[in-house]
Amino acid sequence: MTQQTRKTATQDWDKAGWRAYPRVQMPDYTDPAALAGVESQLRRYPPLVFAGEARRLRAQLADAAAGRAFLLQGGDCAESFSEFSADNLRDTFKVLLQMAVVLTWGAQMPVIKVGRMAGQFAKPRSAPTEVMDGVELPSYRGDIINGFDFTPEARIPDPTRMLAAYTQAAASLNLLRAFSTGGFADMHRVQSWIADFVGGPEAARYRDIAGRIGDAMAFMQAAGVNSDTAHQLSKVDFYTSHEALLLEYEEALARIDSTTGLPVAGSGHMIWIGDRTRQPDGAHVEFCRGVQNPIGLKCGPTTTADDLKVLMAKLNPANEAGRLTLIARFGAGKVGDHLPRLIRAVQDEGASVVWSCDPMHGNVIKSSTGYKTRAFDSILREVREFFGVHKAEGTIPGGVHFEMTGKDVTECTGGVRAVTDEDLSDRYHTACDPRLNASQSLELAFLVAEELRARREDAAPVRTAAAI
Ligand code: PEP
Ligand code: CO
Repeated sequence: MTQQTRKTATQDWDKAGWRAYPRVQMPDYTDPAALAGVESQLRRYPPLVFAGEARRLRAQLADAAAGRAFLLQGGDCAESFSEFSADNLRDTFKVLLQMAVVLTWGAQMPVIKVGRMAGQFAKPRSAPTEVMDGVELPSYRGDIINGFDFTPEARIPDPTRMLAAYTQAAASLNLLRAFSTGGFADMHRVQSWIADFVGGPEAARYRDIAGRIGDAMAFMQAAGVNSDTAHQLSKVDFYTSHEALLLEYEEALARIDSTTGLPVAGSGHMIWIGDRTRQPDGAHVEFCRGVQNPIGLKCGPTTTADDLKVLMAKLNPANEAGRLTLIARFGAGKVGDHLPRLIRAVQDEGASVVWSCDPMHGNVIKSSTGYKTRAFDSILREVREFFGVHKAEGTIPGGVHFEMTGKDVTECTGGVRAVTDEDLSDRYHTACDPRLNASQSLELAFLVAEELRARREDAAPVRTAAAI
């Protein structure tokens, strides 16, 4: 599409326009002067990402919409100030790379790597308050808004937290960029990314694939592959994403792309709209419709076909491929009830979207030991149902969206190294929802890779005896 028509789509938009729309899940700051001070500071700061990068991601997502690439999006449910460290970033990045290797192997197509990282700080909550031992306090809404400690002071929304979040996001991105291009992500090191994984069938399977990739690369080198290709394999494109929940922060970091003259969110490459903030006439949709970044839209059991049609028209009026990713999160056992009707709504509109599967948010349960958890089997079942429905409908499963960490936490139950309800208390560190640990993440990647491989085999033309 031309820049001119894009301009038309957003000429009735202003980055502060969302303020006139109903907002949900956002804090009521008590000190307007302090808030204004923070906003004006953030407006002067450099954006965290550049418009050209967001455009490149969009072009890659257009390939995922067409079945020529696959999206892997993952990271913390909520990043926190206290868990911020180079080791944590490196470990999550490393597991995402491992998962991407496995998925590339299964899909035989490029895997687009997007972290829920460097900005995933604000959380929608199911209730405005929490009660503990008879005491009721406002809910924790993520470190960018208030504090996790269960005290009245910590729970007061504090605008200066936005500055701390900006700083942490900037430092995280700096390290992620260094990891992506500075040698760490060099495909020639594919075997070393698993070095500290001890035992486990998923580690052995990974080593097998990594060994074969290593052999293929040694072969290419021996055969005199040109240095351009070798250079390509020495770095990865890695993108950041988060839920665009705290609109004061998003507005303050919105910028005009000097190449196109169009607005872009400077807070991350991709932003998404949560299942609780996707009201077609709400503030979050109003903000997101005007920025040029790829946009994710969570679709849950209560998403109606009519709402989805309105949302697609608002968020992607020119139907640009790669602009909109629909992130399905229905819960195991419910995908068949909801995904087909939403796929049909997309087809009715002739819309181009990336269909991604979030098997996390529809599968939260309370364990027998009182922890909020997710069963690995339910997560896997939802992924399988997602692929199954796409197969039946003849549509494209374009990606997956996970809450995971590179750490050896015990937050989700199950997996080959079976975490039990009793184990949850051992290493339950999440600031919000339970995450897959490194081993569970890799195991899941293998299972998704199997689905992708089966799909590829289904799609392959049937070879006749003569052709064989
Ligand atoms: C999330 O992705 O962390 C989240 C809250 O998801 P949803 O909006 O789908 O519930
Ligand atoms: Co979550």
